[in-house]
Amino acid sequence: MIDLDTTQTHHLLNIDAVQLPQGLRGKITIPGDKSISHRALMLGSLAEGITTIRGLLLGEDPRSTAACFNAMGAAISPLNSELVTIEGIGLGNLKEPLDVLNAGNSGTTLRLMLGILASHPDRFFTVTGDSSLRSRPMSRVVNPLRQMGANIWGRENGARAPLAISGQNLKAIHYQSPVASAQVKSCIMLAGLMIDGETIVTEPERSRDHSERMLAAFGAKVTVDVETNTVSVKGGAKLVGQEITVPGDISSAAFWLVAASIVPNSDLLIENVGINPTRTGVLEVLAEMGANITYENQREVTGEPVADLRVRSASLKACRIGGAVIPRLIDEIPILAIAAACAEGTTVIEDAEELRVKESDRIVAMVKEMTKLGANVTERPDGMEIVGGKALTGTEVESYDDHRIAMSLAIAALVAKGKTSINRAESAAISYPSFIPTLQSLYSK
Ligand code: S3P
Repeated sequence: MIDLDTTQTHHLLNIDAVQLPQGLRGKITIPGDKSISHRALMLGSLAEGITTIRGLLLGEDPRSTAACFNAMGAAISPLNSELVTIEGIGLGNLKEPLDVLNAGNSGTTLRLMLGILASHPDRFFTVTGDSSLRSRPMSRVVNPLRQMGANIWGRENGARAPLAISGQNLKAIHYQSPVASAQVKSCIMLAGLMIDGETIVTEPERSRDHSERMLAAFGAKVTVDVETNTVSVKGGAKLVGQEITVPGDISSAAFWLVAASIVPNSDLLIENVGINPTRTGVLEVLAEMGANITYENQREVTGEPVADLRVRSASLKACRIGGAVIPRLIDEIPILAIAAACAEGTTVIEDAEELRVKESDRIVAMVKEMTKLGANVTERPDGMEIVGGKALTGTEVESYDDHRIAMSLAIAALVAKGKTSINRAESAAISYPSFIPTLQSLYSK
């Protein structure tokens, strides 16, 4: 039984997997990549001419990005996953919005957009988000932007939204980022698009490179040095509208990769998954844990590698997750924690303190909720330790309004005994609006 109770303001997802038939089987497709969807909407808005986007994620986060850029003069057609068309307004031509720009729950919208706004002279912008986003650190982008000459004000000296920005002509810097963050890197690169000079970012570990790939495709002068984790952008190049096809989001596929691994007798084909090497940490860790995942039909789709992933049930074993792989699987740690709870041995997740400043404190959230389900999990300052193999028992758990927590707990419920009820499950729609219908369809097969 899988049902969604929508009678209250917040939705309750009830899962009692007792009658789960012979595993998770068949073929599924997953929604478009969230990171790529944001970037396609932003660059399409800033480019000259028409950009077309196929396979856009219709989650709430990209909707926030589209609303912000529509409010600044880009003509983005109504969002649908078949085809979105953008009449770009050309770099430097954003209109001053008449109202506050609202990024909703989306850190990527707010942080990337800040670089764009701060570099648009003679315009004033105010930006905000929901209560989760307003509590998240913005100094990681505000500080480098200020070094470039940006004028930004906000709570706690600009560390938290709401923020106000008075656009300026910025100057190029070489920024040594203390965190491996694609949002920080992308914000600075976007701010550098109109600067006469070379804007450079070096990060401690390599983060996802979708901005580098897409900026280059639109015509920006981008260089990447993978040896030193350094990227640069030379300002002044014209951006030209592109035809983009967004691959499926590996972060969404991850829920099924783990689900089909831990639910016995499963054999699931997940079609059209983006396998950009800066995102495939989850595949490497699952392989190390003994998962049975094969790549089929590998191809390239608008500059991004893609494959169909076939996953069959396997007995998983514990492993250590830490170091340079962390930025390449940061969003998949909640679901990997569920895999670890079902694995034999003790899994240690370390160097992952960034989890504390995501849509929720994902270390606290997972430790608390997995403990309620009967897992043996201990919090660490920079991650968690999970002693696998303890039987899980269904109970009432919380999503913390965090999409990845809600979906990870739903997958745990598939192997828990009895009924699990996930409060505030509607948050799944932030990145995966069809998650619950897909789960129900797999269950009814
Ligand atoms: C994202 C970067 C990551 C990731 C987020 C999306 C992006 O955040 O967690 O979901 O699209 O650039 P950080 O840059 O904060 O690590």
